[in-house]
Amino acid sequence: MKFTLVGNGRMGQQVAGVINRSGVHEIAAVLDDRNLVTAESFLGSDAIIDFTVREAFLQNLPAMLQSRVPVVVGTTGWDDEMADVKQRVAASGSSLLYSANFSLGVNIFLRTVREAARLIAPFDQFDIAFSEHHHTGKADFPSGTALRAAEMILSVNPRKKTLVRQLSEDRKIAADELQVAALRVGTVFGKHTAFIDSEMDEIEVSHTAKNREGFAAGAVRTAKWLAARHTTSPGFYTMDDFLNEMLA
Ligand SMILES: NC(=O)c1ccc[n+]([C@@H]2O[C@H](COP(=O)([O-])OP(=O)(O)OC[C@H]3O[C@@H](n4cnc5c(N)ncnc54)[C@H](O)[C@@H]3O)[C@@H](O)[C@H]2O)c1
Repeated sequence: MKFTLVGNGRMGQQVAGVINRSGVHEIAAVLDDRNLVTAESFLGSDAIIDFTVREAFLQNLPAMLQSRVPVVVGTTGWDDEMADVKQRVAASGSSLLYSANFSLGVNIFLRTVREAARLIAPFDQFDIAFSEHHHTGKADFPSGTALRAAEMILSVNPRKKTLVRQLSEDRKIAADELQVAALRVGTVFGKHTAFIDSEMDEIEVSHTAKNREGFAAGAVRTAKWLAARHTTSPGFYTMDDFLNEMLA
């Protein structure tokens, strides 16, 4: 497959490495903030992989969709625009797959967290909170993965109703609030932990990324899946759609 990469930062370079080492895929072009991105930028490509920043992704989205080349998006920090993006994808007749985290390990971790949150739901001695650690270069917080985990916990545990990104200095957290804490330190690739606590015990479900290769390999793998999907059923997809098919 021929890929156009949008974004040439930490992740863009990892993705380029995975493609170059594959022996079967090739890079048609790499675009960054010095390029004017138009639909023509993607001519001759089989897939686009976007790892940029919120503003760049939202700005380049119309051109990417207009090109009708399927787009895999790893850029995070635009969850508040999700409904609009889905609507634009549907209107364009093109395909877009988004995952806040393309690591297979993280996706298995997220399903484990959902199951743990479901299992403790009937037992009110258990409380749950979530934390994420990332390198100091990360632009958004909490991470897209942490938000996804929080969404999953809220969906299966009726004792938690709202997400709290930052504690208030003058009040205690309420029992039905789910805290998602973010720590920015050094060069951490990404660490996510669900903490479950009762008076009698603690359960921690944790995932630590050892490098960025897992994210890049996952993005390239799902791009191949999306390109095949795109020919018969264009639309908006997530890593869950890909995984559900793999696990079926
Ligand atoms: N989904 C995942 O698995 C995953 C994993 C790691 C990081 N991320 C996310 O990926 C994104 C990128 O992370 P990073 O660490 O590579 O960031 P980075 O800061 O290293 O790179 C960002 C890149 O975006 C480019 N850019 C900025 N404006 C642009 C524009 N208008 N057009 C084209 N390119 C533009 C910059 O030139 C730079 O190359 C972030 O949102 C991060 O949270 C996702």
